[in-house]
Amino acid sequence: MSNEPTADLLNRRRFLSVAGLAGAGAVLPTIAQAGEAPKPDPLITEVQDWNRYLGDGVDKRPYGVPSKYEKHVVRRDVSWLTASPESSVNFTPLHELDGIITPSGVCFERHHGGIAEINPADHRLMIHGLVEKPLVFTMDDIKRMPRVNKVYFLECAANSGMEWRGAQLNGCQFTHGMIHNVMYTGVPLKLLLDEAGLKPNVKWLMLEGADSAGMNRSLPIAKALDDVLIAFAMNGEALRPENGYPLRAVIPGWQGNLWVKWLRRIEAGDQPWQTREETSKYTDLMPDGRARKHTFVMDAKSVITNPSPQAPLKFKGRNVLTGVAWSGRGTVKRVDVTLDGGRNWQAARIDGPVLDKSLVRFYVDFDWNGEELMIQSRAIDETGYVQPSKDELRKVRGVNSVYHNNGIQTWLVRGNGETENVEIG
Ligand code: MTE
Repeated sequence: MSNEPTADLLNRRRFLSVAGLAGAGAVLPTIAQAGEAPKPDPLITEVQDWNRYLGDGVDKRPYGVPSKYEKHVVRRDVSWLTASPESSVNFTPLHELDGIITPSGVCFERHHGGIAEINPADHRLMIHGLVEKPLVFTMDDIKRMPRVNKVYFLECAANSGMEWRGAQLNGCQFTHGMIHNVMYTGVPLKLLLDEAGLKPNVKWLMLEGADSAGMNRSLPIAKALDDVLIAFAMNGEALRPENGYPLRAVIPGWQGNLWVKWLRRIEAGDQPWQTREETSKYTDLMPDGRARKHTFVMDAKSVITNPSPQAPLKFKGRNVLTGVAWSGRGTVKRVDVTLDGGRNWQAARIDGPVLDKSLVRFYVDFDWNGEELMIQSRAIDETGYVQPSKDELRKVRGVNSVYHNNGIQTWLVRGNGETENVEIG
């Protein structure tokens, strides 16, 4: 896919000091230059085609898609990242979105064995193992259980994983786009487990998908009984095939790999299952060579989506800085933003719903004179946890790991508005 970062964008840029970054350069002209005589604008004075001719009738677009002028708003993948597209990931175009809900068609995808295309009439969910009554549910059975609606973010543990050793990818789509935030409709897992009747010694569940990877994950029983959903809808309609149609697990606030898609089997047991993925791929290797086996919760994190490398500043004067923040431990209490590399911080304006384990949208409305900016955002959640700097994170975690990088992101906005991924030492 075009627009993917190439090797020449991958130069590690490390700024040891923010001194000397204040020089202002040229920037695109503002809408009306002072002193200019106003020229007639044909877009106002002439009748345009869309005003002159009949448009499509109501029979032409039975399932709507975005305007043809929004064709650039797409998921993008990075072809050199993985050996095959069937076991790979693409990224949500965060810099093109607003509000807190990710449109279903651009929710990032992460598959280990491609997309399973399942006829819901043929889909079954089996619950067995240490239960009183093993059960098999059809989709119709599940849709006759009491359901709930919840907005949650799903973040892959590998989000920002390429940035552990330094600034790498030039765009928030690539550095932070393994996240989406949608409204799920589904049945609390507890209700299904209650029907099956858990034996007293159950400590773990194994969740398994019906895809060619047959991906399975171990889930502690306390979480399963707390807020896990078995979802069949997202954003008001059936799940998309990419995201697990017809049934997926929703594990609020916990790393995305536990959110098993195309969910076909839940086995209750008294210990975690040892799968190749869990033991080799989603562990966190520490500096001393030991590894954290399970890091479930996604810690508080944020990113400025505009401006960012794919969305440079275009105008001097009035501008809107915006971004998203989230925490796997609850709600986001505050987001701080700096424009000068951390010397001064201000609380951003959070607008829209502030929900448990969901993205929040933040804004800073500011005037820009064309000076260079070093912009960062820092999320603080309801537990008081403060998003760390990348260096603070590396002091504890080293640079061996791929997963759970929630360090503060820095963008350098140059005098001409172009924006780059950098780090402040
Ligand atoms: N479930 C199955 N059955 N197969 C998979 O490959 N990938 C997991 C998880 N569930 C996966 C799966 C991973 S690693 C992530 S991050 C999330 O799904 C991604 O969900 P999404 O594709 O809806 O973004």
